[in-house]
Amino acid sequence: MSATSDSSKTHPTIFFIFGGTGDLTSRKLVPALFNLFLDGWMPKHLAIVAMGRTAFTDEQFREELLKDINQFSRRGKADQAKWDVFSKSVYFQVSDINNTATYEEQAARIAKFTQDAGEAPNVIYYLAVAPRFFGTITENLNRHKLAADAERTRIVIEKPFGHDLASAKELNRQLCSIFSERQIYRIDHYLGKETVQNILAFRFANSIFEPLWNRNNIDHVQISVTEQLGVGSRGGYYDEAGAMRDMIQNHILQLLCLVAMEPPVSFQADEVRNRKVDVLNSVRKFSPEDIQRNTVRGQYSKGWIEGKEVPGYREEQGVNPQSNTETFAAIKFFVDNWRWHGVPFYLRTGKRMHQSSSVITIQFKDVPHMIFPSEAVEGWQQNRLIISIQPEMSVRMQVQAKRPGLEMALNPVDMIFDYNGTYTGDTPEAYETLLLDTMLGDQTLFMRGDQVEAAWDLLMPILNAWSGKKSLSFPNYSADSWGPETAEALIARDGFHWFTLPLKNNGHHG
Ligand code: BG6
Repeated sequence: MSATSDSSKTHPTIFFIFGGTGDLTSRKLVPALFNLFLDGWMPKHLAIVAMGRTAFTDEQFREELLKDINQFSRRGKADQAKWDVFSKSVYFQVSDINNTATYEEQAARIAKFTQDAGEAPNVIYYLAVAPRFFGTITENLNRHKLAADAERTRIVIEKPFGHDLASAKELNRQLCSIFSERQIYRIDHYLGKETVQNILAFRFANSIFEPLWNRNNIDHVQISVTEQLGVGSRGGYYDEAGAMRDMIQNHILQLLCLVAMEPPVSFQADEVRNRKVDVLNSVRKFSPEDIQRNTVRGQYSKGWIEGKEVPGYREEQGVNPQSNTETFAAIKFFVDNWRWHGVPFYLRTGKRMHQSSSVITIQFKDVPHMIFPSEAVEGWQQNRLIISIQPEMSVRMQVQAKRPGLEMALNPVDMIFDYNGTYTGDTPEAYETLLLDTMLGDQTLFMRGDQVEAAWDLLMPILNAWSGKKSLSFPNYSADSWGPETAEALIARDGFHWFTLPLKNNGHHG
């Protein structure tokens, strides 16, 4: 989250990417590192060492990466001359994580790099591998004294961080026996998104919102993250996870924290993270009756999306044909503190939904007294602040206005801050922000251990209830719909409805 690009801010750095031949590395990590280089953030002394069992030479691996960059980078096809310079810093280490030689070779690389740079570098271990390998890797790093420098060595952990509270605690215990908390960077890529970072800016860099940001003025909050995609080739992973673990435990609870947190006293990582943990600890824990009343789970059946027939969840590759895993979840939460007492927070997420869009809607209370005749206010809408995270990147304030004409007729209009209209140039991808922050040693946008545990703690009663009682209605929504009808009922019961932003070529509006 640095202000201006300046390669002198980044210290000589060596990245080791475990899982160097995986999708994350080719689609996200290397394009992001290349973009940081193009934007002038990379230090003069840089090495990116991808680790994996495939017998690539450095040259072969670089050629593969170039193809990926051309396909996946936000900047499109790479400038060959710039790629040639950057790719000299990229290496492939043929390695097996169970093998001592792997770690000895890493130690040798670090020693040589240190000599070339003339000072001790930052050493970043990026674990882009399945969680079952975390233990082996971290224990070996420790055994070979590769993580001993608490100032300069860092470890980046991808989600999922645990499968439940007990396993997350165990993983934290394991990591913290080797690394100190300030060395551990737990990724939630939502926190790196521009529009998500902007929530803090919007709330705490403007004086006009804070006086309104509470139970006296806000009716309810919606956080809706819907995806048109199904589970694709990730059925094996997803069937063990489901929407609650895959999206709510991390991304959506993080959004909830950003909306609901108290103002931190400063922008220091721990000040911000303390206030977020407070939110998680204030969310009301559900009793079995609460779960029944305030949660909805769903699973998609087959359907048609944009003229193509798509399979139902139980027909997806890697998925149990009798699966009880939810691909949709909706929850009505309460944040029990002075600011939010009595304000419902409705959360929903689902795959194979009608529209891909992530939107936070803050709905304000209605006017205390209506002075306009009913015929003047058709389509009346309470004020809303709509923070659209993606694909539209905007903040809209929805207000009532007089429609031009001789009669007094009102309708809702949007005052819009639209990123594309306001700023020129590309927006950095979440991974660029997060990788740069890892190099700079800024943990603000990473999850602290206690935060991850608080999020699991909150969800465990629901997860246990759902796994203990098979849903008899699955599948209960068809692909290309807005999820199960019971999710509409969850919010309609309180007199509201789910808000959706109209997309181009897409007629839906809340
Ligand atoms: C990932 C989930 O963390 O986030 C995926 O595992 C999901 O299932 C993805 O599709 C959504 O991320 P984004 O950035 O596309 O909204």
